[in-house]
Amino acid sequence: MAAQQQSVEEFKGQPRLPRFAVPRRYDLTIALDLVRSTFSGAVEIAVDVVSSTRFLVLNAADLSVDHQSVWFRSQGSDRQETKRPSEIVEIDADEILVVGFDDLLPIGEGVLGIRFTGTLNDQMKGLYRSTYEYNGEKRNMAVTQFEPADARRCFPCWDEPALKATFKIALEVPSDLIALSNMPVVNEKANGPVKTVSFEESPIMSTYLVAIVVGLFDYVEAPLPDGIKVRVYTQVGKSHQGKFALDVAVKALELYIKYFSVPYPLPKLDMVAIPDFAAGAMENYGLVTYREIALLYDEVHSSASVKQSVAITVTHELAHQWFGNLVTMEWWTDLWLNEGFATWMSYLATDSLFPEWSIWTQFLGQTTSGLRLDALAESHPIEVDVNHANEINEIFDSISYSKGASVIQMLQSYLGASSFQKALASYIKRYAYSNAKTEDLWAVLEEESGEPVKEMMSSWTKQKGYPAVYVKIKGHELEIDQSQFLSDGTLGDGQWIAPLTVCFGSYDVQKKLLLKTKVDKLDIMELLGLQEGKPGLSEESSQENAGHNWIKINVNQTGFYRVHYDNELAARLKFAIEANQLTGTDRFGILEDSFALCVACKQTLSSLLSVLSAYREETDHIVLSHIVTVCYKIVKLVADATPELLDDIKLFFINLLQFPSEKLGWDARNGESHLDVMLRGQLLVALARFGHEKTIKEAIKRFHIFLNDRITSVLPPDTRKAAYVAVMKSVSISNKSPYESLLEIYRQTDESEEKVRILSCLTSCPDPDIILESLNFLLSSEVRKQDAVYGLGVSRKGHETAWRWFKENWDLIEKRWSSGFLLSSFIVAIVSQFGTVEKAAEVEEFFASRTKPAFARTLNQSLERVRINARWIEYTRKDASLGEVIKELAGRGA
Ligand code: BES
Ligand code: ZN
Repeated sequence: MAAQQQSVEEFKGQPRLPRFAVPRRYDLTIALDLVRSTFSGAVEIAVDVVSSTRFLVLNAADLSVDHQSVWFRSQGSDRQETKRPSEIVEIDADEILVVGFDDLLPIGEGVLGIRFTGTLNDQMKGLYRSTYEYNGEKRNMAVTQFEPADARRCFPCWDEPALKATFKIALEVPSDLIALSNMPVVNEKANGPVKTVSFEESPIMSTYLVAIVVGLFDYVEAPLPDGIKVRVYTQVGKSHQGKFALDVAVKALELYIKYFSVPYPLPKLDMVAIPDFAAGAMENYGLVTYREIALLYDEVHSSASVKQSVAITVTHELAHQWFGNLVTMEWWTDLWLNEGFATWMSYLATDSLFPEWSIWTQFLGQTTSGLRLDALAESHPIEVDVNHANEINEIFDSISYSKGASVIQMLQSYLGASSFQKALASYIKRYAYSNAKTEDLWAVLEEESGEPVKEMMSSWTKQKGYPAVYVKIKGHELEIDQSQFLSDGTLGDGQWIAPLTVCFGSYDVQKKLLLKTKVDKLDIMELLGLQEGKPGLSEESSQENAGHNWIKINVNQTGFYRVHYDNELAARLKFAIEANQLTGTDRFGILEDSFALCVACKQTLSSLLSVLSAYREETDHIVLSHIVTVCYKIVKLVADATPELLDDIKLFFINLLQFPSEKLGWDARNGESHLDVMLRGQLLVALARFGHEKTIKEAIKRFHIFLNDRITSVLPPDTRKAAYVAVMKSVSISNKSPYESLLEIYRQTDESEEKVRILSCLTSCPDPDIILESLNFLLSSEVRKQDAVYGLGVSRKGHETAWRWFKENWDLIEKRWSSGFLLSSFIVAIVSQFGTVEKAAEVEEFFASRTKPAFARTLNQSLERVRINARWIEYTRKDASLGEVIKELAGRGA
C-alpha cells in the first residue's frame, strides 16, 4: 500500500507492531513522587525509519501522554527539522500509540520525543508501588515488572522482545533513597530533597528486561573474580538474610561463564527482595527482582525447603542473563526457550553447587508436572500461537517451564552432555545481542551432533501432548506401540519420535532405540547375549531368578513419555522394586506412570495400591515424598468415590509412612542431611493430615511449647507446618483458640515464609465456618496480594463454602488480581478439586458471561480436570475388589 494511503484503522487489532521504524536507543528520564504515588517522564527514542511511512506506531498503556510535547527530528544530513505530528491516537484495546505526520518520514535515523505522566499502581506490573515498614512507619517503594508486556505502562516504547535497543536511564528521586536500574550509576546530582541519578547506557536489550527499583535498602556484596560486583539488597536490617543467595549467585555466575564460555555481559549484578511481587522472581538484566521468600534465607528462621528454592530461583534467574537476556526469543511463541532452559539450567547449576541434594531426582517433579498438564486435551504445544498481549501471561505455565525443561533433558541425554554443552555455547555466541527461534537452536545442535535434532524435537515442541508407550513381551521380542496419552482415557492421534531406552535385569544391560513409528519391535535376545550368564527370559525361570528378568523402559526417566507395561512386565517390575534393584528415579517413574494410568481409568485403584505396597521398605527421600503426594490424591479419590473405605485407606498410608517417619523423628540431628530435614517435615504433615493420633498428640504438645517460646528448638521451621496442620484439625467455631494463636503469630512475624506457612494451614480445618473466616482474611489488607493464593488449599469439607465465597467475591477478586497468572491460580485452586459433571456444568455456567482471554485456557483446563475426576470416581466405584484390597493393606503391619 502506498504510504500516503495509510490510515490509523489498519493498526488496530494486530498482534504485532508494524515495522516501518525500529528503535535503536532510548534516553529515558523519570521523576518519581513516592508520597503521591505518581511519576512523570520524558523519553527520546532514536529510531531507524526503514520503510516509507507517515506513522510511527509504538506501545503505551495507562499513561497520560502529553500530546503537545511530541516531536520528531530526522537526522538526515541536509535537513534537520523538528516536526510536530498532525494526529496522535491512543488505541486502548491494542495498547498502542499512533503518531501521524502530514508527510512521509525520511528513511534513516530520527528521534522521537514524548512526555508523559502516570500513577504508581497496585497491580504489581508496569511501574508500581510496593509497601514496607521502616522504623514503624509505612513507606512506599517504586518497582518495575515489565515481563511480558508492561514496559508500555511505564514509558512509550516498542514493547516486543525482538525490538532490542540500548537504554540510557536517569531517575529523579528523594535524596535519602537508593535508586537502582540495570546498569551502574555514572552520576548522582543532589538538589535539596531530590537527587538525579544517571545510569550508564546499557548494551542492546529487550524492553521487558528494563528495570527500576527505588526505596530504602541494606545490602551485602561480593566480587566475581573479574571484579564485577554482585549485591543482594534487602529491607533495612535484614541484609544477613541475603548472604546465602549472594553466595549461590557468585558460584552460579562462575559456572555459567564456563558453561557458555561467554563472560557475564554486564558490569554489575544486583538482586533485590521486593515485598509485593507477582511472580517468584524476574530476571531483569543486571537487576534481578525477587519475592522475599524466593531470595532471603535465615539460618534460624528458614526451612531447608526455602533454602533449596532460593538456590533454584537464583540459579534460574541467573541462567536467564545468558538464556533470555543476551539471546532472546524472537516472539512469545518461543517463550519456552527462555523458561524451559532457565529451569533446566537451574538444576544443572544447583546440582553442581549442592551435590548432596539429589536435585536431578527432584527434577522429576518438573517432568511430572509437565506430564500431568500435557495429558489434558486443553493443553497447548510448547511452541504456542500468541495473538494478543493479554494471552501471554497464561503461557508461563508447566508446558513452557516443566515440559520445556524435560524435553531439553531428554535431548541432552540422547545427544550426550558434552556435545550438548558445546552446541549451547555456540548458540549463545552466534545469537548474542540478538534474537532466536526454536529452529535456530535445533540447527546449531544438529550441526554439532550430526543427529536429526530438528525432526525429532519438532514432534515434541510443535504438537501438544506426549505418548504412552505400551510394551508387551512376546517370545524374544518386545512389542512397542505408542499412542497419545490423555487423562480422560481417550487416545489422541499424535505421534512422536521418541528416544527409548531399555534396561534388562541390570543397569549394565541397556539398549537405545529411536521410536519413529507407531509400532516397533525390539529383539531382546541381543540383550540376553549381553547378560553374561545372568538368568534368562524363560518363563520357567525360577523364583530366585525372577528378580533379574525385569525390563524397565525409559531408564532413569529422562524421556517425556509414560510407559504402560503388560501384566507380566508390570509384575516383574514390582518384584524388582521390592528386591531394591531399581534406582530411585525409576521407582519414582513407575509409581507416577501407574498413578497416571489409574487416573485415566486404564488401571484400577486396587492395582495401583498393589504397586504402592511394593514401596513398603522405601528409603529414598524423593521417592517417599512423591509417595506422599500420590497418597493425598488417592485419599481424596476414596473420600469422593467410596467414603466407607476412607478410614482404612488412611490407615494403610499411615502404616506406609510411619516407619520412615519414626526413623527421622521430630528433632533434628547433628550433621543430618538436607534431604532428611525436608522429608521429616513432609512425612509429619502427611501423618497429621491422615489423622495419625501419635503424631497429632506430639504436634499439639510441641505447638504449645512454641507458643510460649518462639525460638524453641522443639518446633523449628522444618516441622512447624505439621504442628499447624495438626492443631487446625481440632479447630471449630466453638474452639477457636489455636486458630487465633496462628493469626497472632501471623500478625507478629515480619517473615514472609512464616506468614505463607500460616496461610497455607488456616483452611485445612474441617469447619466450614472457620474456612469462610480464613477465606475472608485472604481478602483483608493484612495479606499481601501475592500471598492470598497460598490460602486456597481448602479442606474437603470446605469445597462448597469456598466455591460460594469465590462466586460472591468474584468481582473483587477479578479486579484485585487481574494482573494475570495470579487470577488463574485462584481458578485452578477453587475449581479443579470438584469431581462431578454437574459441578463442571455449574462452573461453566457461572463463567459463561465472565470469561476473559487472560484466563480462558486455565478455566478450560480446570473444567476438564473436574470431568476427569468425575470419570475416575465412577470407575473406582465399580472396582469390585477395592474394599477387600484396602482392608487387607490396612491390616498389614498394623
Ligand atoms: N521470567 C520469569 C518471571 C515471570 C513469570 C514474568 C511470569 C512474567 C510472568 C522468571 O524467570 C521466572 O521464571 N520466575 C519463576 C521462578 C523460577 C524459579 C521458576 C517464578 O516466578 O515462579
Ligand atoms: Zn524464568
